[in-house]
Amino acid sequence: ANKTLLMLPGDGIGPEVSRQVRRIIDWMAKRRQVTFEVNEGLVGGAAYDAHGTPLTDETMADAMGADAVLFGAVGGPKWDDLPFAVKPERGLLRLRKDMQLFANLRPALVFEALAEASSLKPELVRGLDILIVRELTGGVYFGEPRGIETLPNGERRGFNTQSYTTSEIVRVAAVAFDLAKKRSNKVHSVEKANVMESGVLWREEVQKLHDAKYAEVELQHMYADNCAMQLVRTPKQFDVIVTDNLFGDILSDCAAMLTGSLGMLPSASLGAPDASGRRKALYEPVHGSAPDIAGRDLANPLAMILSFAMMLRYSFDMDEDADLVEKAVKNVLAGGIRTSDIMSAGAAKVSTTTMGDAIIRELDKL
Ligand code: NAI
Ligand code: MG
Repeated sequence: ANKTLLMLPGDGIGPEVSRQVRRIIDWMAKRRQVTFEVNEGLVGGAAYDAHGTPLTDETMADAMGADAVLFGAVGGPKWDDLPFAVKPERGLLRLRKDMQLFANLRPALVFEALAEASSLKPELVRGLDILIVRELTGGVYFGEPRGIETLPNGERRGFNTQSYTTSEIVRVAAVAFDLAKKRSNKVHSVEKANVMESGVLWREEVQKLHDAKYAEVELQHMYADNCAMQLVRTPKQFDVIVTDNLFGDILSDCAAMLTGSLGMLPSASLGAPDASGRRKALYEPVHGSAPDIAGRDLANPLAMILSFAMMLRYSFDMDEDADLVEKAVKNVLAGGIRTSDIMSAGAAKVSTTTMGDAIIRELDKL
């Protein structure tokens, strides 16, 4: 079957880093005889400028039909004052919502060559390889009722509702267990069952699923506040962490900074499998459109390239090709080649394009 891929480069540095992935796709066609049917579309400010909406229905339909979506970044000062309904980030929100992407995968991986660049002691993070699985479509960000009301005494009250159903918990936990089986076979499930009912249910359901279907995976439950502390104190104790939307938002940003740079962080968002076992999926770097450096060939393309590697692994089961791409990144970094955001003493500072050249050259050698 054809492998269909929708590229949505977006705004700012999005198109610049996407271009480097295109080069890898071309390399794969030539050297590995793997061809993707690549479609490209507009999203964010670019789509607004062309069509008056951050995501057209046609592009949305393309995303629903594709095996995977590779998303760059959206937004920038040019569109900051647009009304809420057509803001660039609404394009991304609609993709996540319509594709029902409930599992957000955020790896925190420390490349040997960059261990010294971490804000923590190098020995704490050297060899670190954590995967945070964050529930993305439920919890307190979406729970009803919510609102701001004025009380009889004149005070105002803002409120939200944290809510999870068993099926919402079980499907994201299953993703975490399945991933753990391909890694170090260890899952930490994180909530606050000591003070929250949703946390009690979370803990019970994760344990039940584990006992019924994943007994061979090592499971530990941990309170979210303790997890934050442990992440900074001894991060290497973790392999896969599964948690809800709110705690995952915070803990994944915390874990990200163990690694040093925003320009190095990939992510994936997965939906439920269909009848043939195929999951809808969107891959994107964690960083935004970086308007401060856009258009100057300065951006680090590695977060985008590593997002593409995740796509090969999780949407196409092309583990060998994913390994190749990740190895190329590792070797290029070991060779002392750096974009300015990950620059260190003695390294060679290169542009986005030159980093792309180096990756292709390394792939040729592997
Ligand atoms: P940002 O991630 O775009 O930039 C933060 C800082 O990191 C900037 O100094 C930037 O130059 C640097 N940076 C980011 N990615 C880099 C890369 N690949 N290589 C080198 N340096 C890099 O976040 P910021 O500044 O908060 O937001 C800028 C715009 O991006 C806003 O319009 C925001 O709404 C949007 N944004 C979009 C996201 C998305 O599309 N998923 C996520 C975050 C922000
Ligand atoms: Mg966040």
